[in-house]
Amino acid sequence: MITTVRTRVAIVGAGPAGLLLSHLLADAGIESVVVDRRSRDEIESTIRAGILEQETVRTLSETGASDRVLTVGNRHDGIELHFEGEGHRIDFSSLTGRSVWLYPQHEALKDLIAARLAAGQDLRFETEVTGIGDVETDRPWITATAGDGSELRIEAEFVVGADGSRSGVRPAVTGSSSGGYFREYPFAWFGILCEASPSSHELIYSNSPHGFALISQRSATVQRMYFQCDPEADPSVLSEAEIWDTLQARVPGTTLIEGPIFQRDVLRFRSFVAHELRHGRAVLVGDAAHTVPPTGAKGMNLAVADVVLLDRALRALLLENDTRLIDTFAQTALKRIWKAQHFSWWMTSMLHTAADASAFDRRRQVGELRSVVESEAGQTFLAEAYTGWPHTAQ
Ligand code: DHB
Repeated sequence: MITTVRTRVAIVGAGPAGLLLSHLLADAGIESVVVDRRSRDEIESTIRAGILEQETVRTLSETGASDRVLTVGNRHDGIELHFEGEGHRIDFSSLTGRSVWLYPQHEALKDLIAARLAAGQDLRFETEVTGIGDVETDRPWITATAGDGSELRIEAEFVVGADGSRSGVRPAVTGSSSGGYFREYPFAWFGILCEASPSSHELIYSNSPHGFALISQRSATVQRMYFQCDPEADPSVLSEAEIWDTLQARVPGTTLIEGPIFQRDVLRFRSFVAHELRHGRAVLVGDAAHTVPPTGAKGMNLAVADVVLLDRALRALLLENDTRLIDTFAQTALKRIWKAQHFSWWMTSMLHTAADASAFDRRRQVGELRSVVESEAGQTFLAEAYTGWPHTAQ
């Protein structure tokens, strides 16, 4: 028995991109169905990055997708770049007039899921896509299996792959599951969450001879910190004392406030952009379309920018039969995507220590950091990219 559901837009993936798109489309009266293979609990509890660009925050708050971002989130007006034993503040607000907000991604997801369910959104968890077809016609469809084993067919006018880096929709767009521009890095991040008060009121990005460390925060009582590690590292083997020693050695001059570590994970680094973002009436957004290494926290912000653009294009297509914006969607989105790819790669390569770095490479890297922090133009370049390029410019 297959149940057939008809809707206007079939959205695969209930992460930030899929949920925000359903929210924006609903505002224009465009109905959608959202499916995700994960459970609601898994989506709401997976720990991700915590920095939101000003435009991301504006989009979430002005559209009613999340009010808590402004009340629970914390505005940050700068970061510290630390190298050769000294900290250098990059003052975002004086350089660009913009700020960022520290608000964990899974909190934004809780807000979005609650808002969509309250609005009566057809949102199906534990539903895995098994097929996708007719994307070259104006009646594409997807098939899926729900958690209880029942089969579903969703007939739509457009299919959106917002289903993350292991996207099941991607082959229907690019012709293969891997087709894209790709880069790997010889390091990863060891991330912890601990019960402690903040060691610093702003984020510290530290380049040290022992490797990179990032001191971030979550709240008055919970902190998030990362240090560069081997991609094959097993997060369970280090003792808490070894973790604190590693972190402390990488932020000389700052005394970290220690506390019980209640979560640890290893984040792998990769850069990826799909060769195609759109094929007929199927499109990729967010991590399904591109992945960035975590340095600079561009992942969710890029997903939101894709969706703001796609929402405009789908409104024009589905409400006015105007194909111009959907025809230029990929070309427009890729301009920001490649700028963010560059920024994430640049922050990563400037701040991390490669195992095979020569004495020349180390000194050159410090020269690069110095050219950023000792020049207003250099600081402004970093601040503009970190706080995010305006959505209106796209
Ligand atoms: C966080 C993660 C990042 O990748 C980053 O650049 C800054 C902050 C975080 O999880 O807090």
